[in-house]
Amino acid sequence: MQRRYIPIATIVAIMLAVAVAGYLNPVEEQEVPARVVMDNTGGRVIFNHQFHAEDYGYDCTDCHHDDIESDTFLSCGSCHPSEFNEQFRADHQKAFPSEEACLRCHDDVPEGELAEEDRPDTDSIPLRADAFHTQCMDCHEQDGGPYEEDACYQCHAR
Ligand code: HEC
Ligand code: HEC
Ligand code: HEC
Ligand code: HEC
Ligand code: HEC
Repeated sequence: MQRRYIPIATIVAIMLAVAVAGYLNPVEEQEVPARVVMDNTGGRVIFNHQFHAEDYGYDCTDCHHDDIESDTFLSCGSCHPSEFNEQFRADHQKAFPSEEACLRCHDDVPEGELAEEDRPDTDSIPLRADAFHTQCMDCHEQDGGPYEEDACYQCHAR
């Protein structure tokens, strides 16, 4: 090998070693669901995650609009509960991978109880079913997929 190629060959060799090490020791990855079963009072919805995430060509963040900590995809319900009640107040404080997530809704990272006036305004955060209906329908109206008034049972089981 000509001498002037040695630095390049060395760099390539190092990059290859790093790539192989990364392949053998991948960062622990979250399991991406193929389908998500959503039981609810309107009739069970089976959401085909694989079609939507892979075949239709969307970015993960088109739907997971809050990918707090780049590679962690939180369930929608961790921020969009069916009700902002006692249970949400208690449970949600441990539902997030980082304090960055708290700032999505709180002005500061809260510690302990919060006075009424320091609590986030819940009117601006859609509840669970609204968050889903809005996101599913808005995209379907634009790109295709069920959204019209008579389309309920294209998503919900009877
Ligand atoms: C068309 C919208 C859409 C796209 C695109 C999408 N997802 Fe999802 N994903 C969802 C919905 C809806 C759920 C169900 C969330 C729930 O049950 O609260 C979900 C659930 C998940 C979950 C399970 C979360 C949990 O803890 O329950 C993971 C992980 C995930 N998605 C990863 C991804 C990745 C990675 C991509 C990109 C390759 C992606 N998603 C693309 C809509 C989408
Ligand atoms: C880390 C918290 C968090 C997660 C996780 C999250 N959201 Fe949201 N979402 C919010 C907040 C806060 C708002 C209120 C509006 C705003 O500040 O953007 C919101 C707003 C929305 C809106 C209304 C947007 C608008 O333009 O009016 C929809 C629809 C929505 N979310 C759907 C979803 C869906 C579906 C998922 C899961 C795929 C999801 N969200 C995951 C925090 C979250
Ligand atoms: C999706 C928005 C959202 C996120 C993200 C969020 N919170 Fe909250 N939090 C709220 C809302 C809304 C309330 C008040 C609920 C009410 O008034 O019923 C609240 C209340 C609280 C309270 C007061 C509980 C009480 O009983 O007085 C604490 C403490 C708290 N959150 C801590 C946290 C921490 C810590 C994080 C991050 C790890 C976090 N929150 C992330 C929306 C959020
Ligand atoms: C970002 C865009 C987008 C979002 C968000 C989205 N969809 Fe879709 N959906 C599509 C497209 C595109 C099609 C395919 C339309 C076609 O091929 O005619 C589709 C088709 C469907 C279909 C019919 C085909 C099938 O898979 O059986 C169902 C049911 C469906 N979506 C359910 C949902 C539900 C439930 C949600 C919300 C949790 C959702 N979708 C959110 C884009 C989206
Ligand atoms: C694009 C798919 C889709 C269509 C179309 C659709 N829904 Fe839904 N619906 C959902 C999803 C997703 C949820 C949330 C499931 C969950 O909470 O796990 C939901 C939730 C509901 C709920 C439960 C509300 C709650 O607060 O628990 C009712 C009731 C409902 N839908 C009625 C309807 C009716 C009536 C129509 C027709 C006018 C309709 N849906 C059309 C996907 C759809």
